[in-house]
Amino acid sequence: MTLLKRLGAYQTQGLVPAMSASGKLTRVVGLTLEAVGCTAAVGSQCKIQTQFGDMDAEVVGFSDDKLFLMPSESLKGVIPGARVTPVGQGEGVPVGMELLGRVIDGIGQPLDGLGPIVTSKNADFTAQRINPMARKPIREPMDVGVRAINALITVGQGQRMGLFAGSGVGKSVLLGMMTRGAKADVVIVGLIGERGREVKEFIDEILGDEGRARSVVVAAPADSSPLMRLKGCETALTLAEYFRDQGLSVLLLMDSLTRYAQAQREIALAVGEPPASKGYPPSVFARLPALVERAGNGNESAGQGGITAFFTVLTEGDDLQDPIADASRAILDGHIVLSRQLADSGHYPAIDIEKSISRVMTSVTTETHQQQARAVKQAYALYQQNHDLINLGAYQSGADPRLDMAILIRPRLDHFLTQSMTDVVEMPMCLTDLATISAPLLRAN
Ligand SMILES: Nc1ncnc2c1ncn2[C@@H]1O[C@H](COP(=O)(O)OP(=O)(O)OP(=O)(O)O)[C@@H](O)[C@H]1O
Ligand SMILES: [Mg+2]
Repeated sequence: MTLLKRLGAYQTQGLVPAMSASGKLTRVVGLTLEAVGCTAAVGSQCKIQTQFGDMDAEVVGFSDDKLFLMPSESLKGVIPGARVTPVGQGEGVPVGMELLGRVIDGIGQPLDGLGPIVTSKNADFTAQRINPMARKPIREPMDVGVRAINALITVGQGQRMGLFAGSGVGKSVLLGMMTRGAKADVVIVGLIGERGREVKEFIDEILGDEGRARSVVVAAPADSSPLMRLKGCETALTLAEYFRDQGLSVLLLMDSLTRYAQAQREIALAVGEPPASKGYPPSVFARLPALVERAGNGNESAGQGGITAFFTVLTEGDDLQDPIADASRAILDGHIVLSRQLADSGHYPAIDIEKSISRVMTSVTTETHQQQARAVKQAYALYQQNHDLINLGAYQSGADPRLDMAILIRPRLDHFLTQSMTDVVEMPMCLTDLATISAPLLRAN
């Protein structure tokens, strides 16, 4: 039955002339296997004979009659000359409401010990493109439960945001806060290429039972193969698309997009693609937009919901010009930058409100809200520009009434922008707080 299904997929795709007989392994280089004597399409699956039984591998490239394969697990037990049998396109990812509350690996296998996942449907790892003209525009704000974001960097439903920061500045904690606080029907969390320890912590401590009931966690930690990490991201998007197609509002949290790019870099370099920028081959920059474009609002007339997405991007050495950060910023609809300086001073979430921007804020907020947010940002920026003068005591109060006001409200502003990691502040409360804090600033203007 399985074989028939695979054969069906194989023939309809028409990518390969015919299912060829088994070939054999000739070489192993790093994580890549080379096989001759068989034909299979890029992206299809092969079984590889090992000392411990058959192992799955995916075709990631070819050169003349040589196939390059990458296994989804370790290479342990692979023998020289091992049999390589093409098996077609594979079964894709199981999708269905049964997945809610579950933790799965990069290819949809359960990791939570709660038994097998039985769904009536499987979906392909790749997306069905939505006609850009059919996509519902972003018109509604998304309440993420974090005051600084709701008030000053308001996110829209269907928006794709980047969360940029160096390591250890609070990206994962901020994503966790949103998992609990966001007003979404379903939350898909992709933990890709990060620490394995954090997976359990995230599920037990951050999600909790209530959060877990409406979430699916896809985990492909740092020690999983590059293929598993790559597939993990795609699985998370495939699931998000499934729930979107049911008309639901989905929040997708991906930690991290950088690890996705690095997994693609590992695979591309292994099959001989030349590196272009900082060791990243060109295919990385082609795959990033392809992945990000899968999020966003669906086709409203077809009854689809939307995917609001947050992708974390690691900025090496806090360098915002890193090629992945640069490419991501260009394709996302806004970015939240976390500052190490704020984190070091215990200001959490360490959101740098001067550098962060939501490109759809004007479409999802009222004119009054925008005015209030602008006044707060200006006061914050003015204080920052004069920070050294103020701290040295070189600023004479009365010299600039706007700066006087910025200094006066600064302690309240700091309080407004900080939030404990267990607190959820809903949108109406954020707007009331914003109105209160901006009132003296607007009066003075
Ligand atoms: N809102 C917060 N309140 C208090 N402490 C926080 C908060 N956010 C982050 N921290 C502190 O910062 C530490 C690092 O946060 P986190 O793990 O989220 O960083 P990260 O940016 O995801 O790091 P990495 O890049 O290494 O994954 C946490 O262990 C915690 O101590
Ligand atoms: Mg992290």
